[in-house]
Amino acid sequence: MAIATEVTQSSKGAIGERLAEARRRTLELIEPLDDEQLNRVYSPLLSPLAWDLGHIANFEELWLVQTIGEREPLHGELGRLYDAIENPRRTRGELPILRDAELRAYLADVRERALEVLDEVDVDPDSPDPLLRDGFVYEMLIAHEQQHNETMLQLLQLVDGYQLPGTSGALGDAGHLSPGQMPVQLDRHFEYPPVREMPRVPEVVHVPGDEYEVGAPERGFAYDNERPRHLVELAPFEIDRTPATNAAYLAYMEETGAEPPLYWEPDGAGRWVLTSMGRREPVDPSRPVLRVSWHEADAFARWAGKRLPTEFEWEAARPHLDGVGQAWEWTSSDFVAYPGFEPFPYREYSEVFFGDEHKVLRGASWATHPNVARPSFRNWDLPQRRQIFAGVRLARDADA
Ligand SMILES: [Fe+2]
Repeated sequence: MAIATEVTQSSKGAIGERLAEARRRTLELIEPLDDEQLNRVYSPLLSPLAWDLGHIANFEELWLVQTIGEREPLHGELGRLYDAIENPRRTRGELPILRDAELRAYLADVRERALEVLDEVDVDPDSPDPLLRDGFVYEMLIAHEQQHNETMLQLLQLVDGYQLPGTSGALGDAGHLSPGQMPVQLDRHFEYPPVREMPRVPEVVHVPGDEYEVGAPERGFAYDNERPRHLVELAPFEIDRTPATNAAYLAYMEETGAEPPLYWEPDGAGRWVLTSMGRREPVDPSRPVLRVSWHEADAFARWAGKRLPTEFEWEAARPHLDGVGQAWEWTSSDFVAYPGFEPFPYREYSEVFFGDEHKVLRGASWATHPNVARPSFRNWDLPQRRQIFAGVRLARDADA
């Protein structure tokens, strides 16, 4: 029994430390901002940061304090304002959400209560409660905050003069720092992936036709939409080892007159600059192209004589792929349920988004926490979305 208790205590300590690590990054991202900037609506496509912060705390209160700890909410019906489905992004700036000192106090109060509850619960990995089995609910909370950090970075691109903590880059966009301009990492900061140069003409990986296992294994943390793990039959295909570069996209734009990616502007001298965080930097040809919609990625792939991979091709080829963690990669797949799907822990996480409206993205971008980037992780978004850090990796059918 003594050993079991020690194991429980050390895993609780690890959970507490990881919750704290996620929160440190959230607070670090907003550290350079004042309350007015947190409340400002920069784009109808993105929530004001104050909404994201309140939503992060409210999600924690809902699951760790109310559901697991069986306590009453701190602010009555407040949770309704932070329901992502009830409140579309364009409306969030007008909601009577918590702001300024009240918002900061709410984040801290919820965390204090969540840690009290953590102290009380039994975090046995084999718990009969599916929310506590393998620490599911805590893993969900940590991943949720980390995923919102990326959404916050989508908005931070629009904040003039913003400097990404922990980097010395002029843009603060780790995906667009010039070669040689490596981010300086200080100990307390989140580590962004190193700047990578990609070949203009990627190496091609040949993947034989076969049955492949896809999806998350039964145990360990994953979202409901990644399960059940199952076999898929794939015809032979080829896929680029690295994501498409800005150079390749520039060639496509020049030949077809296609629109540039979001936030690119002509510099007046025949070149393109990326405008982000109020600064202008020449587009680096060796970096993966970012901020293109699914429609743009699809058109680019066809121009190149190729196509987008399906999400299962992507997953089967994952062990051979380089450059994952630089850009989300659009796939040709609709976001649909795997055979035998069961919603957990709530329908609104995945099930209400299934259908032909959303396309699956695989991989991870420079702004994604590595904890989120499992090979089976499925991101999804509308095909017209451009403000996410999404690019493309090209594939094509192969002869057997
Ligand atoms: Fe959320």
